[in-house]
Amino acid sequence: MGRNSLKGQVKISGAKNSALAIMAGTLLCDDDCRLNNMPCLSDINTMGLVLASLGVKIKKMTSSWEFNSRNLKAEKAPYDLVSQLRASFFVIGPILTRLGVAQVPLPGGCAIGSRPVELHVRGLQAMGANVTIEHGVVNASVKGSSGRLKGANIFLDYPSVGATETIMMAATLADGVTVIENAAKEPEIVDLANFCNSMGAKISGAGTDSIVIKGVERLHSTDYEIIPDRIEAGTFLVAGAITHSEILVTSVNHDHLIPVIAKLSEIGCKVIQEDKNILRTIPGELRASDIETLPHPGFPTDMQAQFMALLTISEGNSLVTETVFENRLRHVAELKRMGANIKVKGNSAHVVGVPMLSGAPVMATDLRASAALVLAGLAADGKTIVQGLQHLDRGYQDLEQKLQGLGAKIQRLQDYQP
Ligand code: UD1
Repeated sequence: MGRNSLKGQVKISGAKNSALAIMAGTLLCDDDCRLNNMPCLSDINTMGLVLASLGVKIKKMTSSWEFNSRNLKAEKAPYDLVSQLRASFFVIGPILTRLGVAQVPLPGGCAIGSRPVELHVRGLQAMGANVTIEHGVVNASVKGSSGRLKGANIFLDYPSVGATETIMMAATLADGVTVIENAAKEPEIVDLANFCNSMGAKISGAGTDSIVIKGVERLHSTDYEIIPDRIEAGTFLVAGAITHSEILVTSVNHDHLIPVIAKLSEIGCKVIQEDKNILRTIPGELRASDIETLPHPGFPTDMQAQFMALLTISEGNSLVTETVFENRLRHVAELKRMGANIKVKGNSAHVVGVPMLSGAPVMATDLRASAALVLAGLAADGKTIVQGLQHLDRGYQDLEQKLQGLGAKIQRLQDYQP
């Protein structure tokens, strides 16, 4: 049920996208790796299954997981798992650099676009890998008798998060120095670099355009804490804004949220840093604003759908342009079912703010779209029923419990029949 204000505080979980890349990173080391602040999400469980299929021993203790990949196998990761989770392709770099050979199925497309991996592949080739793609599987092996990748200078045509992660991980155990130019600068890249360095890797420059990795022969055991999820945090900040509520969002890193906080302030909801890891929303009148998604430190594509929900009730005309993914405006049709006034042309959506949304049954099309529909439901008049919660469960830990803790009238319906 919508239109009631929220109050209180909500604690943010560990970052899904960091955790996924870092789980792949545990393959770099044949000793125990302990990861703390792991979010409890279906994507994380799927990645765990991928690693287990490769011979990794995993112990789960709520938010801490232990990995041991002493017996890592150069076997093909199972397609049914890789196809469910694109990030599982990221295992290719660590397996190749450790074992000299790797076979990983192509992840294929997904709801938000075709999502190719040629930048990952070209990076590995530049480091001396022989790569063939046959029957939908990427087969990579290291040329030469040393069985070791060689450091290389790699310029990425686009600052792809996944390609930067694949190349960075592969380079940690390569022979010589690798430089990645036009690297992705997302906080998750910095987290992965810090994790690798905690195992003895020599990576500098993560978070800038140019990352330098000096290869080492071996990495050692580590105990590492995943950063907070900036997208989950941003989603709750939008929940405060869209319900005109003052809420505290805790266990966050303010610096990771600068583009989101700046845009919220432009729209009319101030966000103040209450304490080192605590943000407070100060609600206000909502005004239209234009948004263009860009690689970090630009506005994150993973927050586009949630902000679109907010702009549907912000006074005036907003233009939302998606530049990172080709097919990431599918939530528009569902928001329109709730009374939003939006027209899509190409990769842009023109949103004219309406005074109020009205609750309706809607269907989540992907992870962030599902969050956008929940946010819209919080602000709408009447009851909204969001279906397709398997998308939500990929990336939001306990979303309904966390919102209930803030006073939202939300519940998960078991066995709902439309
Ligand atoms: C990661 C995030 C995802 C986020 C995205 C952009 C994870 C698990 N997922 O995805 O939530 O939305 O960053 O911030 O961390 N591309 C190519 N060729 C390639 C690789 C990418 O053309 O070889 C294109 C993609 O199709 C897309 C764009 O580059 O259009 C961005 O992709 P990328 O930065 O690689 O995103 P992911 O790592 O897949």
